Amino acid sequence: MKPLRVADRTRSFKYAVRDVLAVADEAKKAGKSMLYLNIGDPNVFDFALPEGIIESVTRALRDGHTSYAPSEGVPAALEAIRAESEGFGFQGIRDVFVGNGASEAIEIVLTALCNRGEGVLLPYPGYPLYTAIAGKLGIDAQPYYLDEANGWRPNADDIRAHIQPNTRALVLINPNNPTGSVYDRACLQELIEIALEHELVILSDEIYAKLTLDGREHLSIASLSDRAPIITFNGLSKAFLAPGLRVGWAIVSGPELVLAPLVDACHKLLRARLCASHPMQYAIAPALADTRHLPEVIAKLERRRDLTVSRLDAIDGISCVAPEAAFYAFPSLHIEGPDERFVAEMVRETGVVVVHGSGFGERPDSSHFRVVYLPTEPVLSEAFDRLEAFMRRHL
Ligand SMILES: Cc1ncc(COP(=O)(O)O)c(C=O)c1O
Repeated sequence: MKPLRVADRTRSFKYAVRDVLAVADEAKKAGKSMLYLNIGDPNVFDFALPEGIIESVTRALRDGHTSYAPSEGVPAALEAIRAESEGFGFQGIRDVFVGNGASEAIEIVLTALCNRGEGVLLPYPGYPLYTAIAGKLGIDAQPYYLDEANGWRPNADDIRAHIQPNTRALVLINPNNPTGSVYDRACLQELIEIALEHELVILSDEIYAKLTLDGREHLSIASLSDRAPIITFNGLSKAFLAPGLRVGWAIVSGPELVLAPLVDACHKLLRARLCASHPMQYAIAPALADTRHLPEVIAKLERRRDLTVSRLDAIDGISCVAPEAAFYAFPSLHIEGPDERFVAEMVRETGVVVVHGSGFGERPDSSHFRVVYLPTEPVLSEAFDRLEAFMRRHL
């Protein structure tokens, strides 16, 4: 038999955050000591699953919650998500469902909403899953550019300029990965106006909402309108330090009649994949009820963010907008030419694994890389020493 012919849809399929490991493996084989600053997984570093989550999942297993669960999720979890969202002021909640991670919920909503050839506005830079799913489903990824000069916030004129007749949805990631920016009320209200003007569904990824730094408030866009159709994504992976449990969800809010067909279509897709992991869903209600671990997590992140920004900004050829949330920085590289080759060389030569900016989408004339600042201060310091020496050699 010949090597198998694979589907065309995989041709443009990329996920830079893990794809970069191929380059890292070359460096490792060449004997480099490696420092991994590429994956946003707190539990690889000095963060650990809160005890209450371990207990609730263990209890769920002992209590025999090992059958298939209801496709949309177990009632205790759905009620806890709904109650928390109402507490955050969400208006007009129409549906809640649980996925195997927010990732699955995002894929289900995009699959239910868009035909092949229809478009979705995606923030560039932004989390690459959206571009990957769009590629797989034949959805037209329509980038809008976040404004680095304005703390990486969206620009309403730029979004309007990118809307096409086939555009169905506007994705926002708030707080954003990879820039760590947080959107204020005025910005969110503008996005709602745009969505209403152009009959777009807002998909708001808020998985880092509880990880805002410096006491900054996080506002859910769903708390600002009951007129716009909004799907909000969240989960346990980041703020609850439980990425491997694969627990996430979607909250559908807004005008009931407008949303009813989409809710129906999502539920058809949910039924076909049976259910999200059953015992893991029993972690949701206790987790949302107990956020005592968060102040320590946030204090650590603030210290590491400060170190990251001050060290990167001091390097010739690099400048860095300070992240306001999450655990990513997205510094600008003042180099000629694209960032993918330059950053691959940086990884090979220094052993510090960061991800090229184009992996998240960026303005074609710009160059960046993403740093995960979850590691401890000594590890971060060592990484920035190496990057500083690299830049001195290569500028
Ligand atoms: C913005 C964003 N959304 C979703 C996810 C994935 O979430 P989950 O682990 O719940 O699938 C990530 C993971 O890095 C992310 O950064």
